[in-house]
Amino acid sequence: MKIAIQGALSRISETLSETLGHSVVGRQDALDEFLRERWPKLSPLKSRLQLLMVRNVLEPLVIQPYQRRMLPVLFGPIYFQALSAAVRFDLFTLLDQRGELTLSEIAEALEIDPKEARVLLDVLVTLGFIQKRPSEEASYYNHWLTKWYLSENSPLNIKAVVDWYHYICYKPMYHFFEALKTGQNEGLVEIDGEGDTLYQRLTQHPELERIFQKAMEQISTSANRSLASYVDFSQVRSLVDVGGGNASNIIAIAQRNPHLRARIFDSPSVEKLAQENIQKAHLQDRLSTLRGDCFKDPYPQDADCFLYCHFLDIWSEEQNKFLINKTYQALPAGGQIIIFDIMQRDDGKGPLTAVAGHPYFLTLATGQGFIYSAQEYESWLTEAGFTQIQRLHLPQDHIAVIGHKA
Ligand SMILES: C[S@@+](CC[C@H](N)C(=O)[O-])C[C@H]1O[C@@H](n2cnc3c(N)ncnc32)[C@H](O)[C@@H]1O
Repeated sequence: MKIAIQGALSRISETLSETLGHSVVGRQDALDEFLRERWPKLSPLKSRLQLLMVRNVLEPLVIQPYQRRMLPVLFGPIYFQALSAAVRFDLFTLLDQRGELTLSEIAEALEIDPKEARVLLDVLVTLGFIQKRPSEEASYYNHWLTKWYLSENSPLNIKAVVDWYHYICYKPMYHFFEALKTGQNEGLVEIDGEGDTLYQRLTQHPELERIFQKAMEQISTSANRSLASYVDFSQVRSLVDVGGGNASNIIAIAQRNPHLRARIFDSPSVEKLAQENIQKAHLQDRLSTLRGDCFKDPYPQDADCFLYCHFLDIWSEEQNKFLINKTYQALPAGGQIIIFDIMQRDDGKGPLTAVAGHPYFLTLATGQGFIYSAQEYESWLTEAGFTQIQRLHLPQDHIAVIGHKA
């Protein structure tokens, strides 16, 4: 009997593997029919064994691990909108300030109906952003990391990154499929105005520009700390940060390197933000801004270091080679180029932060950008004439590739 059951189990297991595709997508009826055809007499035992296999083997070992990867992607738009709505209500800051609140207290503070508040809270609790304490009237409080990442009170918060996805990326990314077919940033159609790149369009939308720059600053805050901490600027006298945005990078570098002067080289629409930040940091004597388009305007000839921080991934290989050659020409002997960014692994297998960049740059930013690997940057530097090329692995999937002009 035992052997017979084992035999039946192993045959069922083979059958289940053959029909795995059906059961994964929940087509239990197809599976039943298939089994009934094969073992017409095995019905009661069959259904027990089948249940045993499905519930205790197939589901936990095969289906659920796959679903854990698939579901956040499949329901991504819904989960993202829940997070984004909570950020717009500033719910995480509210919970940070008040500690723990009941459903009715939250509904009252958000000025929405308790039923709708529950819709939002149930998603946030299940996703793990918020925790729920069961009692007569359940209460809600932030996960301790939510306090860091999503409360206004935390210097590490990434609320503007959520706003960037919501207001700038979300609708354009709907056009990914078209962008793949045409090779153009088709998503730009969602942001009116003149110009072929997101950056040009943002200059015509001050509020979106502010959100974008704030998001860049939040993404860069912790990553760029490592640039200032681990990259050696002791030999640099005069630095130019091309596409330096709101100057947060050069501020961090200048604070750690009191001997160094630096300028950002960016579009006029960003200049004002950069100047305000430089003033707030009281660094006007060493930091300043240069208006310019890196493809059209000449580079200053008195700098001994050019920094490209979250910048070269915006452009095509040809454009990057152009910029690297232009940098080589502008530098004196002994000068250096520093490329600091999230970069792909040389084998092209991630990380996740890198592969999210490809679709964004293709569909929205420029239609040409790419998250290149460190190996690609190194080969372009070598081609341009740079020597003593170094690669420095830094936290948060960032790499600094550094080259010197002999
Ligand atoms: C992705 S942001 C990077 C900002 C900053 N480097 C950082 O790490 O946070 C790209 C920046 O490049 C600037 N930019 C875009 N096109 C440019 C161009 N042709 N010349 C100079 N700057 C440009 C944008 O205004 C924006 O500030």
